Amino acid sequence: METVVSGIRSTGNLHLGNYFGAIRNFIRMQHEHKCFFFIADYHSLTTHPAPEDLHRNVKQVLVEYLAAGLDPEAATLYIQSDLPQVAELYLLLNMNAYKGELERCTSFKEKVRKQPDNVNAGLLTYPVLMAADIIIHKATKVPVGKDQEQHLEMARTFASRFNRLYKTDYFPQPYAFNFSSELMKIPGLDGSTKMGKSENNNNAVFLADEPKMIRKKIMSAVTDSGPTKRNQQRPQSIKNLFLIMKVVSQPDTYDFFEEAYNDCSIRYGDMKKQLAEDIIKFTGPLREKIIEIGNDVGYLRKVAEMGKEKAMESASKTIEDVRNIIGFKSF
Ligand code: TRP
Repeated sequence: METVVSGIRSTGNLHLGNYFGAIRNFIRMQHEHKCFFFIADYHSLTTHPAPEDLHRNVKQVLVEYLAAGLDPEAATLYIQSDLPQVAELYLLLNMNAYKGELERCTSFKEKVRKQPDNVNAGLLTYPVLMAADIIIHKATKVPVGKDQEQHLEMARTFASRFNRLYKTDYFPQPYAFNFSSELMKIPGLDGSTKMGKSENNNNAVFLADEPKMIRKKIMSAVTDSGPTKRNQQRPQSIKNLFLIMKVVSQPDTYDFFEEAYNDCSIRYGDMKKQLAEDIIKFTGPLREKIIEIGNDVGYLRKVAEMGKEKAMESASKTIEDVRNIIGFKSF
């Protein structure tokens, strides 16, 4: 059993792509490893959210992850800012993180391009905070996507640099990990290969979307003018609709439209109507759970408290050790 850490961005609703991807990954891991999953609300401060938005976003993310099946008994599920030890380790690691390497980070350069008016130190040291998140629990596995690979590499650098400086092997090396080869990759409704990749919200079906919204999104999903030859190659947009249908619809429904495509009798309008209803059937129970958990403030408080307590236990041990290693001593 290994120690696993992953941070969840504190904004953004869960969509079907997350549900069949990252969430499945988490749910699988929570039973196989010692897992720490947290909502990265410190990280979100780089964009200066309004206080009322910050809390609402954190709550919504927590609610949706619980509704999707994260088990707060199996995994340690907590809010990053409930763990001041993370902020302390971040401060300590910052002393050995260099301006040059931080400036070379791809995600930093992208942020500089996108928000030139708000290039704050938190943005520059984002990878240091992320390293602190991970090594505070001495984790070795980090379930993240490809886009976080460089951050993980930096976390390994900061961990081994600490070890070298203090002549210790205290922090293990963390590596990105996922079951991606076994996970379903859900494509977007706009013809793109990944749901949620585009800024356009019509590209994704969110778990909390109301039926009316789902129908609207599916009916306006990108298609072409239809097949004209038997067994014709499909454009990406059509492949996408079939891929989504494959995961939410009954096999005979899927086969029916497959055949209709292949003999050119398909009517996309009919296929979309069916797909929309099948998605609604699939997400309906999840949406109800989201509403139910969202209304149960007592339960949310209990989950957050329990997560905080379990995470604290691990984090305070690390900080105590680190302070000793560094040479902080009490008189
Ligand atoms: N940077 C991650 C993202 O954008 C979120 C994150 C913050 C994270 N701290 C982490 C992920 C620690 C894994 C481990 O998705």
